[in-house]
Amino acid sequence: MVTKIAVFASGSGSNFEAIVEAVINKKIKNAEITLLLTDKENIYAIERAKKYNIKTVTHIAKNFETKKHYEEEVLKTLKEEKIEFIVLAGYMRLIGETLLNVYEGKIINIHPSILPAFKGKDAIKMALDYGVKYTGVSIHWVDSGMDTGKIIDQEVVKIDENENYETLAKKIHKIEHKLYPDVINRILNKQ
Ligand code: GRF
Repeated sequence: MVTKIAVFASGSGSNFEAIVEAVINKKIKNAEITLLLTDKENIYAIERAKKYNIKTVTHIAKNFETKKHYEEEVLKTLKEEKIEFIVLAGYMRLIGETLLNVYEGKIINIHPSILPAFKGKDAIKMALDYGVKYTGVSIHWVDSGMDTGKIIDQEVVKIDENENYETLAKKIHKIEHKLYPDVINRILNKQ
């Protein structure tokens, strides 16, 4: 059985592309990336989707009266595309109860720290500023909190002596692009 997946993104979409490539290369089995859903126009993730002929739908939250209205529109899109599983990849909004009511247990997120450390935005910068010697990547189930859901997997990255934002971000992304596809494959194929 092929699972129809929507990836939600708000930015560059490098994780989105890594996941699409992993499906093409059969590192993720029994999956189809059916949809890229974004909350912003003119983001690089949309260019990446074009390259792979993946449908993109953008809903701008501030055009809706409430979060509920926004998420109802998102739900409508997901239903139209028969989406069964949601992968958040740099999607910069909290998932609300409208989406959770339907998809709880079927939404995962990736975060660039070893949770519960450095939740929220700018986790890479926070780790550098704090001066920790190790940080990393976490993948977790999504609940109503910010980066609070049950952890599925984590991988540690050592922060070297002369580390700067660029070098650390590069190391973290390299891990993300492998770990996220691995975890998705494990979940879909119950390994
Ligand atoms: C990643 O570092 C991810 O951990 C965080 O947002 C970033 C998204 O990067 N949630 P990209 O858009 O996939 O390149």
